Amino acid sequence: MKKALKIVGIILGCALLALLGFGAYVSIVGVPTYDPPSIPEITVEGTPARVARGEVIAQIQCMSCHADKNNRLTGKHLAEVPAMFGKLYSKNITQDKEKGIGNWTDGELMYFLRTGVRRDGSYAPVMPQYPNMADEDLKSVIAWLRSDRFPVQPSKEEAPGSEFTLFSKVLAHTIMKPLPYTGQVVAFPDSTNPIALGRYTADAIGDCYACHSGDLIDQDKVNPQKTKGYYGGGIEMVGEGGKKVITANLTFDEKTGIGSRYTKEQFIRAVKFGVRPDGSILKYPMEPKMVLSDREVGAIYEYLKTVPKINHDIAQKTAELQLAEK
Ligand code: HEC
Ligand code: HEC
Repeated sequence: MKKALKIVGIILGCALLALLGFGAYVSIVGVPTYDPPSIPEITVEGTPARVARGEVIAQIQCMSCHADKNNRLTGKHLAEVPAMFGKLYSKNITQDKEKGIGNWTDGELMYFLRTGVRRDGSYAPVMPQYPNMADEDLKSVIAWLRSDRFPVQPSKEEAPGSEFTLFSKVLAHTIMKPLPYTGQVVAFPDSTNPIALGRYTADAIGDCYACHSGDLIDQDKVNPQKTKGYYGGGIEMVGEGGKKVITANLTFDEKTGIGSRYTKEQFIRAVKFGVRPDGSILKYPMEPKMVLSDREVGAIYEYLKTVPKINHDIAQKTAELQLAEK
């Protein structure tokens, strides 16, 4: 018996040492760098249709994290990220050749947006990856980045570098990983099928599931439906003035989801203009998505009807949070 205990003790001791060793290693190495990838040869023609579509996607994706207070994409502090992950900043992605991405090729941008890895092999853990965005939509984003639009015009301004906590460095070595570049063509969904269009708009364009599922970090980027707590909400985020705000349960669960509380028209109004059926305003970081069409947002509603219901009472969670903050 004693011997068994001793062995267990030794094993635990070794595990602890290994863990400490890993922690020390990670704190020195920081966010990992991978082998420089082979970049695809791509040339994106900047047609007006692409620039227009790219602007729609940029408005709901890139602008919210990269735009400074003058609406230029010079990078900014990501205040909504909880402090346990560190003090995180996005980067200058204007056309400036030195501070921005003026020197990146179209292939490098495509590769980075799909995988999270730059041409030198460095990995950007906080920047979302877009494995399911259609090739044509990614090309539209690139066309917009190259366009004459105001937010992307060259600027030398720069945000400070990110300060990662040990916790987020460990995550960047374990759960958060670059995605593989498959090179396979990702096609646009059948847009006459509302459920397919809704799923694409929610998961691949809006990244709605990334905030509205069970965990901010532990997500299945390639198969979003496999993310735990898919659309069940409940993630605590930092809202306006540092106040905590909890993401909503968007499943059609009768008691705790949106199905019984929202008609399709009310849902469209909430997502596009940030107003709930009772007239209250949705709090940051839920930003109004005015650039999406009624058809696209209506399609998200149709898709959410098909998502497995999750009983998760966010109102209750919010009430508990408010009590704790008092
Ligand atoms: C959730 C916030 C967020 C969103 C949304 C986002 N980014 Fe980023 N992006 C970041 C952060 C943070 C970094 C810096 C990563 C780092 O420091 O390693 C970054 C880095 C980049 C870089 C690399 C710049 C460099 O000099 O290394 C490019 C290019 C980029 N983003 C483009 C985009 C585009 C295009 C979009 C929209 C399709 C977008 N980002 C959406 C947060 C975001
Ligand atoms: C950056 C994180 C984030 C993203 C991305 C996001 N949301 Fe939200 N959403 C929130 C938060 C936080 C709330 C809660 C706001 C509040 O309590 O006022 C919310 C609330 C909502 C509500 C209100 C639900 C209710 O119970 O009244 C709807 C509807 C909604 N989001 C739909 C969407 C859709 C559709 C998308 C994608 C197009 C999306 N959200 C993307 C964070 C996000």
